[in-house]
Amino acid sequence: MCGIVGYIGESQAAPILLDGLSKLEYRGYDSAGIAVYDGENIRVQKAVGRLKVLSELTHDGATMPGISGIGHTRWATHGAPSNDNAHPHYNQTETIAVVHNGIIENYLKLRKRLEQKEYQFLSETDTEVVAHLLDYYYKGDPVETITKIMHRVEGSYALGIIFKDHPGKVYAVRKDSPLIVGHGKDGNLIASDVPAVLKYTREVYFIQNEEIAVLTKENIGFYNVDGEEIQKESTTIDWDINAAEKGGYEHFMLKEMYEQPRTVRDTLNPRIKDNKIVIEELGMSDEEIQAIRKIHIVACGSAYHTGVTAKYIFEGMARIPVEVDLASEFRYRNPILGEEELVIIISQSGETADSLAALREAKAKGAKTLGIVNVVGSSIAREADKVMYTWAGPEIAVATTKAYSAQLVAEYLLAVKFAQVRGKITEEEVGGFLKDLQKLPEQIEMLLGNQEKIQHFANRYIAAKDVFFVGRGIDYAISMEGSLKLKEISYIHSEAYAAGELKHGTISLIEEGTLVAAVVTQEELYKKTISNIVELRSRGAFVLAVTNAGNQEIEKAADYVLYIPQTNKYFTNSLAIIPLQLFSYYVSVGKGCDVDKPRNLAKSVTVE
Ligand code: AGP
Repeated sequence: MCGIVGYIGESQAAPILLDGLSKLEYRGYDSAGIAVYDGENIRVQKAVGRLKVLSELTHDGATMPGISGIGHTRWATHGAPSNDNAHPHYNQTETIAVVHNGIIENYLKLRKRLEQKEYQFLSETDTEVVAHLLDYYYKGDPVETITKIMHRVEGSYALGIIFKDHPGKVYAVRKDSPLIVGHGKDGNLIASDVPAVLKYTREVYFIQNEEIAVLTKENIGFYNVDGEEIQKESTTIDWDINAAEKGGYEHFMLKEMYEQPRTVRDTLNPRIKDNKIVIEELGMSDEEIQAIRKIHIVACGSAYHTGVTAKYIFEGMARIPVEVDLASEFRYRNPILGEEELVIIISQSGETADSLAALREAKAKGAKTLGIVNVVGSSIAREADKVMYTWAGPEIAVATTKAYSAQLVAEYLLAVKFAQVRGKITEEEVGGFLKDLQKLPEQIEMLLGNQEKIQHFANRYIAAKDVFFVGRGIDYAISMEGSLKLKEISYIHSEAYAAGELKHGTISLIEEGTLVAAVVTQEELYKKTISNIVELRSRGAFVLAVTNAGNQEIEKAADYVLYIPQTNKYFTNSLAIIPLQLFSYYVSVGKGCDVDKPRNLAKSVTVE
């Protein structure tokens, strides 16, 4: 996700801003920019690509003199990477500059209102709306102006702002996106994350939601959403820079697991308005949705696993036939496609060679294509007819977690939308689904709180040689992802199996003490899977069951039970995967594996 920095003090601001942005590079970005007050004007310099480009353009900041400024590394969400879309953004008279990390959910409505008031926009971003909104409400008092926009902007933001006629100050405010303030000996700083300020200070203030910070060279003032001054205590950071980049987590994978509530919220909320699903980027009329004869979901790895789950949901809820393919298979099997088919390519990176080739095959055969992609402006995002972004932010760990969870909810939204448009579910049922979907973030948060219990269980299986994951229906799809997570980060052989298929051969592999994780979240299949558990245990397996709260009968059948909160049967994947992610993570850590960069693997497989 984006990174913001700001500085005001005795030193030249630009080099400090560039240095701070370099400490946020790990967050992933595609463009960068800085704004510095040079004593007369606010000067802005932006550049697409690596931070090095911006540093070279500004001779490491030397061409931008001034002692106060803000900076930004952009992870594109609204509008592809470009100079116009890069931050900082000005108001029209260039008397205000702003940088932003987060997603303004009502930016289109605000933009329309501002355009009606003759405001001209230079970019496609949600952030530029903030710059003009600040201009619209500004009557000379920055804090009062900031409180006004806080009451009108919906979504998540960490903002850094400078006002030309308040040159001795830097302003910052946050809601749901991280923001810290550093109190240095020769100046004060703002940043999205601790690494950006550690070189200058370890005295940090963590800004809470809807708090405003006003920095001068010497002091820092804090205000609430009503513009009243508040007191805050600083914290002394004792992390080293490496730990700080992971936000204090030991690995990026763990950090990203704990970001899942937020990425699910960020992917869901902008697409649920007045209790209706609004997927503007889909660009398909109801008639076009009704005319779709068949859906093909094509992907690799974990993305493919979300597609297997989505098949059960589209077919169960919308009664549309769905075929799910591994991209490496799809691209060579001469698939039968036509214009009444929709091919959905799912890809975190948007650069996976097999998935990109599958997309091109689908287009060549005249099918409609939709990308569900995390990286804005990536090849699959650009080449698909339509793209639906998963706003998970950059995923650093090779093993996907938060992007996988965001892909799931994107597919849930599509399935509910299609079912509703095709008249397969009522308005009331849509309301029920949306209620369940909007509870998922807090339920994921609750499950992440079980990490000690799962770590304790995982430590028993560090020496395991073979682990099986079994389930039926959506539970089989969940098993696939659980198995892949364990394999890719702990190097333990594992296999996912349809529980009903075990007796056709594979059950011969079960020995005394073999660990089998049984996923049992589909109520109508409880009894069937429980009988498989009994078969497995009678052959010596140790069965870990992941099941819904309230499923007491499982206690008698399994050796160890992990419960997930109640949700709609179609959405249990988002919850059941959490304990399985944690299990794999702690087995890998216990084995001393390189969790974030497992052997033989790449984050994006851009070759066949
Ligand atoms: C999942 O943990 C792996 N990193 C891998 O299976 C990944 O999901 C697969 O390579 C697809 O990548 P993509 O989503 O970027 O296309």
